[in-house]
Amino acid sequence: MKTIIEPFKIKSVEPIRFTTKEERIKILKESGYNPFMIHADDVIIDLLTDSGTSAMSAKQWAGIMDGDEAYAGSKSFYRFEKQVRKITGMKYIIPTHQGRASEKILFSIVGGKGKYFPNNTHFDTTRANIEFTGAEGVDLLNETGKHPEIRADFKGDMDIAKLIEFIKEKGKENIPLCMITITNNSGGGQPVSMKNIREVKEVCVKYNIPLFIDACRFAENAYFIKKREKGYKDKSIIEIVQEMFSYADGATMSAKKDGLVNIGGFLALNDENLAMNCRNLLIVTEGFPTYGGLAGRDLEAIAQGLEEVLDESYLQYRIRSVEYLGERLVEAGVPIIEPPGGHAIYIDAKRFLPDIPPEQFPGQAIVGSLYIEGGIRSVEIGSVMFGKYDEKGKLIPPPMELVRLAIPRRVYTQSHIDYVLEVILESFKNRNKLRGYKIVYEAPMLRHFTARFELM
Ligand code: F0G
Repeated sequence: MKTIIEPFKIKSVEPIRFTTKEERIKILKESGYNPFMIHADDVIIDLLTDSGTSAMSAKQWAGIMDGDEAYAGSKSFYRFEKQVRKITGMKYIIPTHQGRASEKILFSIVGGKGKYFPNNTHFDTTRANIEFTGAEGVDLLNETGKHPEIRADFKGDMDIAKLIEFIKEKGKENIPLCMITITNNSGGGQPVSMKNIREVKEVCVKYNIPLFIDACRFAENAYFIKKREKGYKDKSIIEIVQEMFSYADGATMSAKKDGLVNIGGFLALNDENLAMNCRNLLIVTEGFPTYGGLAGRDLEAIAQGLEEVLDESYLQYRIRSVEYLGERLVEAGVPIIEPPGGHAIYIDAKRFLPDIPPEQFPGQAIVGSLYIEGGIRSVEIGSVMFGKYDEKGKLIPPPMELVRLAIPRRVYTQSHIDYVLEVILESFKNRNKLRGYKIVYEAPMLRHFTARFELM
């Protein structure tokens, strides 16, 4: 087989500012060893997130110029609505400025004290929006999904037996909806199989609970189904996407991922009454229902992005470039979540730095090392992000200590990825020299964004 090349040419470029190792040591120290505090201009390869960081196509930029900025009934809205409807098959399409705005509106209406929301794994903003209403979000991921070293095709699947048990325990009347996140970001960007979506739907139908999809990375999920699931090899991406959504009663979406844009999102719904309530809240918080917190030009770019993301050669390149990085790391013995997910590589910091205990944040030590070694910005997903304290102030670590390297869409070429690989290998070779950190400042909530650290 020939090399899978980037299926695009580059028409407009953005220069990268290079820094020296000495400069980076100073910058990292000044930023309190927190990657969120580093100026983007001081970063060589930015793998902090795949959200809102996509490169838009010439056609999307043309759409930006063509956007209709009418307050009500903009033609860009109708183009957006048509494309979202083609993908989701849903009746009511409500634009929002990003994923969490959709979540905020949805859960403000269906949430509240005494309510429960199951998911394979809630993303942080989803959980936060659920908990903000007094409700509880519960993760019911299948067992293999919790083990970084086990290779399986669909590690994002929901545990069906646990879901049934959960519904019986909490009572179906207390579960306004069930969610499934495709791909499962917090669990390593792992896909969910069509079989599992279908089975979750069957359970939901039995107990009369609506099924919602957190659709951020729906196209990447569809590509995994095509490649890995029996019976889908000859189906087109749009057919697979339409089948996935056919089992859902609603969806929340951050278009900053598979919408291939820098801002935007939507809520897609089938229930008329719920749609009416959501639109009424949207008018208070986001804007009129034909723009929902976005400019007409943004709607135009999303509509175009949602067409381009279904292109199989794009998805092949996308998934392959992440997989390529993962394969090389595994060959060199670097511990990662296997197999690689759709949008990111997750380094298993517990195995990378077995001598640094969770209290000294091994993931953060790797993040610091990748920055110093090569100006790569990554993010810790472990005790810094999710650690809690017991009554005595002792850290309660989450089950995994990870470092996420999220790959922006259409932004970096293979030589950038090769460079990332070299930097990780260099850091791995010198891992015995890495030191842990202690936190010297932290905010009461979501501390990872603003915490400051010192070297141990
Ligand atoms: N759901 C999932 C699965 C996500 O990954 C995100 C965002 C959201 C919802 C919220 O969307 O940012 O548009 O409000 N994930 C980003 C990330 C921030 O870096 O993984 P948003």
